[in-house]
Amino acid sequence: MRAVVAREVGEPGDVLTVRRVPVPEPGPGQVLVRVDAAPVHAGDLHVIRGRYGYAPPFPAVPGLECAGTVAAFGPGAGDGEDGEDGEDGLRLGQRVTTVGVTGTWQEFVVADAAQVLPVPDSLSVSTAAQLIVSPLTAWLLVTGLGLGPGDWLVQTAAGSTVGQLVLDLSRRLGFRTVNVVRRRAAVDRIRALGGTEVVCTEDEDLPERLAQLTAAHPMSKAIDCVAGRVGADVLRALAPGGELVVYGALSTHRQTDPAMLGIPVPADAIIFGGRSMRGFFLSRWFATTPPQVARRELGEVIALVEKSAMTVPEGQAIPVERVLKAVRLAEAPGHGGKPLLVF
Ligand SMILES: NC(=O)c1ccc[n+]([C@@H]2O[C@H](COP(=O)([O-])OP(=O)(O)OC[C@H]3O[C@@H](n4cnc5c(N)ncnc54)[C@H](OP(=O)(O)O)[C@@H]3O)[C@@H](O)[C@H]2O)c1
Repeated sequence: MRAVVAREVGEPGDVLTVRRVPVPEPGPGQVLVRVDAAPVHAGDLHVIRGRYGYAPPFPAVPGLECAGTVAAFGPGAGDGEDGEDGEDGLRLGQRVTTVGVTGTWQEFVVADAAQVLPVPDSLSVSTAAQLIVSPLTAWLLVTGLGLGPGDWLVQTAAGSTVGQLVLDLSRRLGFRTVNVVRRRAAVDRIRALGGTEVVCTEDEDLPERLAQLTAAHPMSKAIDCVAGRVGADVLRALAPGGELVVYGALSTHRQTDPAMLGIPVPADAIIFGGRSMRGFFLSRWFATTPPQVARRELGEVIALVEKSAMTVPEGQAIPVERVLKAVRLAEAPGHGGKPLLVF
């Protein structure tokens, strides 16, 4: 089978190769999933560059999620004898996605049965391949801040997949949004998705415009995945006591120096204004959340996607052999839909 392998930590263009490797065997309680599509997330590129929240042993197969079908059961994962249909509605040929399984950029991946979730029939391969990471992150960011009718949320990189899903939730839950984007061309899309205010850093001074907006409507909640100066400007604009949740560091994307991953936090905003900043990391959320709670939240998110209350932007299918093209696209400004490696 084909697998994308990162030889070692480094720039993706230098260290990624597509190799032929044996199909893995599912062990006891495990499921073999034939992967149809796997997204290229910003987090994957952080892993390859060696500055993510976990580091796999290298050589490593990147990939945080996928859409596929059940290809085989390991001993004990099926109802009866090996290879038979399994528990939790899993059957051979069932469309599934994986949760918390790393190494999805390969034709077959092995997962514990508990990490394999059925995918509703109505969902496209593109949506199924992106069903967990972005929608669940958007959901947990919004619910974690307790956003409801009348609230304001400031968000950066509003045109990202997560940002667009947050906008879906804003329409559903009735909160208003200030959306920071870096390109003029992204503004109309954000408005079409129901963004209340859009700040375009290509045309506007961010601190100045945020100061105007927050003078009119004091805002105390923000989410940021850009970090650096942008994250600091957003924190400073919040009302006293306000809270910024940092969940990404896109402005430092190509840096491999951990020292560059900082946010120049204004001490006066924290000391005198009582503003605070905390992080969010989905893997940590899974590691610290009781499994039944995680299942419930996942169920809510999948139901919202199934009834189109959250719409995952359509990805762009790219054959796995062209993984370097997919990586370049993932980092290109205005790349649109997320690159999906297809097998
Ligand atoms: N903490 C977690 O557990 C977690 C989970 C999921 C995602 N994330 C993070 O969420 C962020 C968004 O991910 P995604 O998959 O939704 O993104 P995506 O769909 O790939 O889109 C990336 C977006 O970020 C914008 N962007 C890229 N570099 C930027 C920069 N230097 N300054 C300002 N904007 C920039 C792009 O703007 P253009 O349209 O102008 O190119 C685009 O709108 C990433 O940082 C990712 O790591 C974190």
